Amino acid sequence: SAPSQPAAEASGCPFHRAGEPAPNGCPVSSQAAAFDPFDRPYQLDPAEALRWSRDQEPVFWSPRLGYWVVSRYDDIKAIFRDNHTFSPSIALEKITPPSDEALAVLKRYDYGMHRTLVNEDEPAHMARRRELLDAFTPEALEAHAPMVRRLVRERLDAIIDRGRADLVAELFWEVPLTVALHFLGVPEEDMEQLRRFSVAHTLNTWGRPSPAQQVEVAEGVGRFWQYSGEVLRRMQARPNGHGWMHDMIAKNREKPDVVTDSYLHSMMMAIIVAAHETTALATANAFRQLLSRPAVWAELCANPALIPAAAEECLRHSGSVVAWRRIATREVAVGGVTIPEGGRILMVTASANHDPRHFENPDELDIYRDNAVDHLTFGYGSHQCMGKNLGRLEMRIFLEEFTRRLPHLELEEQTFTFLPNTSFRGPEALRVRWDPARNPERRDPAVRNAQRDFPIGAPESRAIVRRVRVTRAAPEAEGILGVTLADPAGGRLPAGSPGAHLDLVLPNGETRKYSLCGPADSGDWRLAVLREPEGRGGSRWVHETVTEGLALEVRGPRNHFRLDEGAERYLLIAGGIGITPIIAMADRLKALGKPYELHYAGRGRDTMAFLGRLERDHGAALRLYPRAEGARLDLATLLAEPREGSLIYACGPERLLDALARQTRHWPEGSLHVEHFSAEGTALDPEREHAFQVALADSDLTLEVPRDRTLLQTLRAAGIDVPSDCEEGLCGSCQVAVLDGEVDHRDKVLTASEREGQDRLMTCCSRARGKRLVLAL
Ligand code: HEM
Ligand code: FES
Repeated sequence: SAPSQPAAEASGCPFHRAGEPAPNGCPVSSQAAAFDPFDRPYQLDPAEALRWSRDQEPVFWSPRLGYWVVSRYDDIKAIFRDNHTFSPSIALEKITPPSDEALAVLKRYDYGMHRTLVNEDEPAHMARRRELLDAFTPEALEAHAPMVRRLVRERLDAIIDRGRADLVAELFWEVPLTVALHFLGVPEEDMEQLRRFSVAHTLNTWGRPSPAQQVEVAEGVGRFWQYSGEVLRRMQARPNGHGWMHDMIAKNREKPDVVTDSYLHSMMMAIIVAAHETTALATANAFRQLLSRPAVWAELCANPALIPAAAEECLRHSGSVVAWRRIATREVAVGGVTIPEGGRILMVTASANHDPRHFENPDELDIYRDNAVDHLTFGYGSHQCMGKNLGRLEMRIFLEEFTRRLPHLELEEQTFTFLPNTSFRGPEALRVRWDPARNPERRDPAVRNAQRDFPIGAPESRAIVRRVRVTRAAPEAEGILGVTLADPAGGRLPAGSPGAHLDLVLPNGETRKYSLCGPADSGDWRLAVLREPEGRGGSRWVHETVTEGLALEVRGPRNHFRLDEGAERYLLIAGGIGITPIIAMADRLKALGKPYELHYAGRGRDTMAFLGRLERDHGAALRLYPRAEGARLDLATLLAEPREGSLIYACGPERLLDALARQTRHWPEGSLHVEHFSAEGTALDPEREHAFQVALADSDLTLEVPRDRTLLQTLRAAGIDVPSDCEEGLCGSCQVAVLDGEVDHRDKVLTASEREGQDRLMTCCSRARGKRLVLAL
């Protein structure tokens, strides 16, 4: 049956409708009853306003809104995944039912906003989306970069000697609008008028205008509708025009049943807003967040390689779209709560982006965060924002120009205001100041044009590099150099969890992994590097070059070797330099008061690092096996009896790890955890590979993975963002769920039974055994 507007109904309450008497009074909690997205808390900070919900009631009925509100990451992603059960058809519906007067005004303008892409159901939506993808390939978007750059520069030139500005008024509104119009092929129009139209459209769709305002808003929307129709007709008269709207007009001629007439007019109006307001607000949010943390801003100015990662983190922390809608097409459970057929759903993506179940320290703005790209600000699945890479491109160019030309920019003291609505969010003004006498280009005019470009697409986690300074470099044992790294600005470096490592960037751009040895609370990072004469040269470089005072670049810390703190007891086994992660684990287990044994084998005491500290801190648990003294670690005896409730953590030469794998076969699966530092056999050899197909169930796309490309590379090229880190099968960050097909596993992350399950794979290295895989992406 056709769903009705619940807020307009007399009762509105789905519990009454379901005819279920509540067992102990009203099932709507007092917090749920009080929730109103138009109240101050949500308007100021939607993620914060829903903290209680994330913690206590992640899916609740809001009587004031007439919607089911969902606030946790996993629940929202599950809704985005299934656009048959959760139809997007209400995405552009007026969230506040319009008054009769407003309806009369709209009728006068013949207003008929209908299906576009974002609110279209399958199968019509995907058929249309596939026809319209060409404008979003990396090559096509690359062509817009010079124009974005030019616009930002010109606007910046105009204010740079002024010392004060409202960046929203001067740049953040008009540049994205101009870019959007250019992208769409719409002739440039009266910008002020378009800005007023956008505001009316947002209030009409996501706002709660008072009865008096409703008429005024309807007037604006009606004029916007009329205007869109006129522009469309003018564009239709120029069949050879360029831009995405012209692509649509051409498709409309070619395939009128796929790209329909009604679609064209609705899309014309919706896209002008979708393509610019989102980006304008996202840019204002990003600058506000970064400038209100001067140390983070300074870090970005000093290390502009971080700009793509910082922009992404701002989209997560403070996105411009904070909530999106779906309607249930059948009765369905979300997070254990039953939503009836026809239930309207408000997914508060800003809340999902602050869900600690998915993001560590979610309220912190961490420009080094490597899974920021998982945020839901662009939505997810088959409707995921098509323009995300254009939005990213613009934000990055804004940040790059400002960090280079105005690194001394400061936020003025001000109260921020927001257009009251549920979904689009960004400050209406952003006032900043700076001292023009300190503009770097006054000393060096070359600064103005010294631009840096970034590849189109999701940020590459490899580019997330941190600068550190060596504060100590001294022998730890024979052939082992102990290195301490500190924050050059004097701050505390974030503690790595036990088992975490850093990737040290060598001058030739290669990286080497070194475990953090602790102690964890020191505020600096300590490594121990063994000189390996037979190695690839990284350790030699460290031994010969690293001295106190040297500046280094590192990535991480990352942890591919996490300590499960839930076991009853532990067996820690280290061979040689493998002691480095193991000592950090021993420290942690001691602090937790867990029983553990530490077995440490090496050539001789003079080559074994940390002996003093180990004997002091872990004396009772420590067994040493220096071979020079005839001591031998006898794994067969040590591991003869599987120990119930024990976990083994081991690091050392491959020989030792292989022996461990053999000697623990009779232990319960999952008892043994080892750290691999190299992933031999994951490099791609096109001669030995075959091409295969991947069908993406959530995105409704099928891609061809050629023999000379990884699955991860293929996904990225199609605009599907998958986080990755090591890209050699070691870390597990690129894992995706497999729905069908047989996998040729090449990683070192999954256990034997996880592989047999055939329900997940690492996209950076694993491939299809046969011709086809189906993935939950
Ligand atoms: C859809 C956000 C920029 C074009 C969406 C959706 C969101 C969103 C939340 C709905 C996703 C879903 O239902 O799963 C954003 C944000 C942007 C941005 C935060 C900037 C920071 C752009 C730009 C364009 C654009 C620049 C155009 C050039 C679209 C289109 C859709 C869409 C066409 C509909 C896709 C479909 O339903 O298949 N966007 N957007 N967006 N966006 Fe964006
Ligand atoms: Fe590390 Fe794929 S990126 S396993």
